Amino acid sequence: MIKFFRQIRKSLLMENTLKSISVLFLLMIFIGSCKKNSADQNESTINKTSNYKTTIENKIDSILDIMTIEEKVGQMNQYNGFWDVTGPIPKNGTAEMKYDHLKKGWVGAMLNVRGVEQIETLQKIAVEDTRLGIPLIFGYDVIHGYKTLSPIPLAEASSWDLEAIQKSARVAATEASSAGINWTFAPMVDITRDARWGRVMEGAGEDPFLGSKIAEARVKGFQGDNLKANNTIAACAKHFAAYGFAEAGKEYNTVDIGTSTLHNIVLPPFKAAVNADVKTIMNSFNELNGIPVTGSTYLQRDILKGEWGFQGFVVSDWASIRELINWGHAKNKKEAAKIAANAGSDMDMEGYVYVQELAKLVEQGDLKESVINDAVRRILRVKFELGLFDDPYKYCDIKNEENTLYHPKHQEVVLDIAKKSIVLLKNDNNLLPLKKAGQKIALIGALAADKSSPLGSWRTASDDDTAISVLEGLQKYTGNTLTYEKGVDLTIGQTNFINELDINYTDKSEFPNAIKAAKESDVVVIVLGEHGYQSGEGRSRTHLGLPGLQQELLEAVFKVNKNIVLVLNNGRPLAIEWAANHIPAIVEAWQLGSQSGNAIAQVLYGDYNPSGKLTMSFPRNVGQLPIYYNYKNTGRPTNDGNNVFWSHYSDSKNTPLFPFGYGLSYSNFEYSNFRINGREFKINDSIELSIDITNTGNYNGKEVVQLYIRDLVGSITRPIKELKGFELIEIKKGETKTVDFILNKELLGFYNNNGEFITEPGDFKVYIGGNSVDTLEKEIELIK
Ligand code: BGC
Repeated sequence: MIKFFRQIRKSLLMENTLKSISVLFLLMIFIGSCKKNSADQNESTINKTSNYKTTIENKIDSILDIMTIEEKVGQMNQYNGFWDVTGPIPKNGTAEMKYDHLKKGWVGAMLNVRGVEQIETLQKIAVEDTRLGIPLIFGYDVIHGYKTLSPIPLAEASSWDLEAIQKSARVAATEASSAGINWTFAPMVDITRDARWGRVMEGAGEDPFLGSKIAEARVKGFQGDNLKANNTIAACAKHFAAYGFAEAGKEYNTVDIGTSTLHNIVLPPFKAAVNADVKTIMNSFNELNGIPVTGSTYLQRDILKGEWGFQGFVVSDWASIRELINWGHAKNKKEAAKIAANAGSDMDMEGYVYVQELAKLVEQGDLKESVINDAVRRILRVKFELGLFDDPYKYCDIKNEENTLYHPKHQEVVLDIAKKSIVLLKNDNNLLPLKKAGQKIALIGALAADKSSPLGSWRTASDDDTAISVLEGLQKYTGNTLTYEKGVDLTIGQTNFINELDINYTDKSEFPNAIKAAKESDVVVIVLGEHGYQSGEGRSRTHLGLPGLQQELLEAVFKVNKNIVLVLNNGRPLAIEWAANHIPAIVEAWQLGSQSGNAIAQVLYGDYNPSGKLTMSFPRNVGQLPIYYNYKNTGRPTNDGNNVFWSHYSDSKNTPLFPFGYGLSYSNFEYSNFRINGREFKINDSIELSIDITNTGNYNGKEVVQLYIRDLVGSITRPIKELKGFELIEIKKGETKTVDFILNKELLGFYNNNGEFITEPGDFKVYIGGNSVDTLEKEIELIK
């Protein structure tokens, strides 16, 4: 309240009486809003009424009326804080300048500021020292948790458990909001087909259908039912669009894909996020078919804000507006600012371009003020929806912060999803689960005792070495003798940026100890893979085997003991053909976050029966990349004439090492009795499918039942398989369950090259199974 009286006082001193009247009007609206808020208990109901929306729009109108052009541009300006850095720092980005701009009201948002104390300090400046007192919005990369970490998103996706994924995002939002943050730069919904790209760890994998469901679950988890609560935060679907298709998996590279891939593969998860009411979208560093996407009117105005009716705001990626100059798409900062603003990029993240250029552009008549007004309206709308105007300090409760971070209940949630994220890739002779007593176990590998790598990349707020290691997890099972030997180091020193070209892996001095331990044991559990920072942003790789000397160690151990369980810790699919051919048991355990070691131990000992399924194909070798299950048939799909002229490699199979949707259980599931309620259907019909699944093994277990289709003839060629449904079911040993699916014209259709959604009559194959390869199939026909 004090603030508003101050505004009146200030406004009375203003020369422009009209402005004074507007400020008074603003005050009345605020008072109205406060009364309304205290009177109405059920905020979520209010949120949904159009009346409420109109009120917000009215409030925004009155604010816009009194804002100077600099203040408007200020809302479109986001500065990085003063310590965490997630991108290159330009020389002119001094703390003094940022502080000065903050006091002038020329900053609308911050990023990488965290903790109640810091956030409250900056919010106070915005609210109490600036002319209009508009609160800041604080963004942070809460990618897979804040302090308590969940598995990396690619791992979580392997659970196919939307409820667990939503819960994990809820925990992340609860912790981040308690530390003052009100906006996460997640979910990353980029579809990815190339494991060389380090950021595959941040997404949901290669499939747009599953990717859309996960995008929706994560948005709901972060935003909750009521954005005005103090434990919900605005989500941000990123990176719009096609960043995941960087050529050759090289970070920040050119993207050149066709319209069909754009509409059918890349855009659906973003659309799903918008439908789930995501409040913000981040654009990206890449160009798409010659236009850097930050300057793409087609993507941001025509599709996102036009066709999809997105009402939130678009934030640039870190300096991506300024980078229009590097791309050779803008001559200078002035041009970059103009192109990006016109194209619909509403906020400039740490680029200094908007704050320096936009006001001049408007004043010189080179940019319409309506463009600025639209951007500011969107930004203010999100601030209103978050309740920041009602209480700018709603996230600033130091007691709540202390009580919330690393809460034991959060540890339970992340342990649950960590177990569900593990994928059993191989289990010859039922080597797993391990016996709980009477076995001598050698635990080998630097990652086995590592308490940092399981936290993965993008864990900026979490404390180092807070993960439970595999060693710690296994030590809880005391019936066996456990000997630990690291065998070889994975990195030289602990560093955030591992430049593998600079690492000289030669030290094999620990090999003999590991070999001795293996020789003297019944079973070897060897934990190999990537260091926690070997995947993530800026970590593209050209070799996807086990880094360093780990492959050599594995082969040396194999020579003395073949009873090996290989546990993989990694942030991307790896090319492990030798291991797949030789090692009897392989467990894909990704980077599972805070509870990693406990989750792995529970799976190895059979306290949890693994149920995860891959959401990215594992290649046999790097030469196969990009590799994905929903490829096109081509004109020469088979080797009928027994000659070389068909689509293949002469030195490698076409198939992946492990396909999309694949994952074993300690039990077995048999599919039978696939039935459909007819063969011929009209376009508007509902097609009902059912299948029986029997657990024929010795353990109760879970299975992800997957539904795929193939549209045999299309005006645009269709993939050989497309996921169109899935259900995660629990089946007791000996039990049979029936799973039902429905197919309809939405699921059978696709986008044509004009971006229009169509469903064409014709023949379809329908498949159901436990992965994208082993399926039962039937045919149906769609008639007009
Ligand atoms: C990344 C974004 C991230 C941003 C802020 C950029 O480098 O591409 O995903 O949200 O930095 O940290």
